[in-house]
Amino acid sequence: MNRSQSDSSLKSEDADDNFNFTDLNITLAEIEQEDIKLPFKSLEDVAAYIKVKKPKNVVFLVGAGISTAAGIPDFRSPNTGLYSNLQKFKLSCPEDIFDIRFFKRNPVPFFQLAKTIFLVDVRPTFTHYFMKLLVDKGHVRRIYSQNIDTLEYAAGINDEVIVTAHGSHRTSTCLKCRATYTQEYMENHLRHSSELIPKCTACRGVIKPDIVFFGENLPERFYDLHLQDLGDADLLFIMGTSLQVHPVAGLIEVVRSDVPRILFNLEPSGQPFLAYNSKYNKRDFFHKGTTDESCRKLAELLGWLPEIEAMMKPKQEGKDEDTKKD
Ligand code: OAD
Repeated sequence: MNRSQSDSSLKSEDADDNFNFTDLNITLAEIEQEDIKLPFKSLEDVAAYIKVKKPKNVVFLVGAGISTAAGIPDFRSPNTGLYSNLQKFKLSCPEDIFDIRFFKRNPVPFFQLAKTIFLVDVRPTFTHYFMKLLVDKGHVRRIYSQNIDTLEYAAGINDEVIVTAHGSHRTSTCLKCRATYTQEYMENHLRHSSELIPKCTACRGVIKPDIVFFGENLPERFYDLHLQDLGDADLLFIMGTSLQVHPVAGLIEVVRSDVPRILFNLEPSGQPFLAYNSKYNKRDFFHKGTTDESCRKLAELLGWLPEIEAMMKPKQEGKDEDTKKD
């Protein structure tokens, strides 16, 4: 564990000498525009940037790692990731399960998996609420999520702010006649139908959740918005993604060359395009750890922890109630 994760005194050896981070409420108020230096060296520097520069066009680029704390596996983590646990489907390549050409020939493995991953009762994580608070405070331009779990919506983030770049299972479509079906319809099918494959009530075509499979285009909304959003971005947060799938991974290169890029992830990713380990680094910052830990620490530094905890409380109480009923 690196120092900024484990040290609760809020002191940072890396922080600029001008700052006294032992009392951030005072210090953040005192920091001037000219004190902000890139690249960031600590979460304290990130907090100072947000407090002083008051960015209005923050873009989040998030992946499966922001939802693992909710109980949803990511894809590529060794042992726990979905792609390490598909042996029973006997696929020649794990990605086949989300490949449209494969699905059209054989939708069985996908729906067997969907029965287990779509129906888990999941709730947004601290990271989702951290993003919601930044949205509520007027800092955020857009959230580009590769996740299909709809937890951004569940956290109460306005639809307008979200781009589900890999689609979601909020809706489903018949591959033959393009009739659309609701999330409730698909969930009901997966829970209760004796047939595995959902078939269109009008034409008996296969109904597929509107998740973007390999070999399919991303939603139009992604293409309509991403150049303008990333071009206008004044801070890029990249969280919980291996940055291995394009075109989303390429978004990190669309932001202007002076825009700070922050990576919160369990492991390094995005290199060499993110230059946090390079001696030529001018604006990239990697903070290793879970996104929940990193967002919590940053929220604490910004004095926002009570607001996030208040947002999470009703949900937590709901969860406690659910547990009592069980
Ligand atoms: P990956 O599984 O490729 O990467 C998840 C990243 O999050 C890894 O680098 C993990 O180390 C990290 N991680 C896991 N848990 C974390 C946590 N609690 N805190 C911080 N980091 C954590 O998932 P994505 O990058 O989202 O697409 O994958 C991109 C796309 O590949 C997915 O949308 C999906 C997949 O194939 C399609 O199916 C079309």
